Amino acid sequence: MQVIAIYPGTFDPPTNGHLDLIHRGADLFDELVVAILRNSEKTPLFTVEERQEMLAECTAQWGNVRVESFEGLLVDYARSLGAQVVLRGIRAVSDYEYELQMAMMNRRLDSSLETVFMMPAEAYSYLSSRLVREIASFGGSLTNMVPASVESRLRARLGIAGHAQPPH
Ligand code: PNS
Repeated sequence: MQVIAIYPGTFDPPTNGHLDLIHRGADLFDELVVAILRNSEKTPLFTVEERQEMLAECTAQWGNVRVESFEGLLVDYARSLGAQVVLRGIRAVSDYEYELQMAMMNRRLDSSLETVFMMPAEAYSYLSSRLVREIASFGGSLTNMVPASVESRLRARLGIAGHAQPPH
C-alpha cells in the first residue's frame, strides 16, 4: 500500500525545523504533501504563493515531496488527495495539548485519517516561525534557523517595507 501523508501548516516563513520534519516524513512515507493553509483571518508576512515558492525551492531534493495549498477542513482536503496520514511536529510538551486537540478533532471528523507526530532534531526544538519573524524584524541573526533563500526574502521583505507587512 502506498502511504500518502499531508504535512499541513502556516509556514510563514518555513524554518529549518519544518524542513527537518519534511526530511523525516519524506524518508518514512511514499508521498508527502506539504499543505499551506489559505487562511483569510490571519495577516501573513508572506503570501501563500511566496511560501509555496520558498518551500518548493527548499524541498526540491526530495522527489516524493510536493507543495500545495488548501482551504477548508483538513480532513476534506486529505480525502480529496487520498491521504491516510497527517504529519505534525511536536517540539516541546507545550505543543502537545493543542496538537492532541487537533488530532482528536480530526479523528472525530474522519476516523480513517491517522495523525503521526514526529520530533524535529533537538537543535530546532525552540524554533518557530513567529520567533523567526520577530528576530528578523529587529535585525537579529537567523543563522541555522532558516534556509539562506528564506533569510534573504525575509531581509528583503522587512527591509523594503521597514516593518512586517505583506505586499498589497
Ligand atoms: O502551522 P499551524 O498554524 O500550527 O497549522 C495549523 C493547521 C493548518 C494544521 C490547522 O489550522 C488546520 O488544519 N486548519 C484547517 C482547518 C481545519 O481543518 N480545522 C479543524 C482542525 S481540528
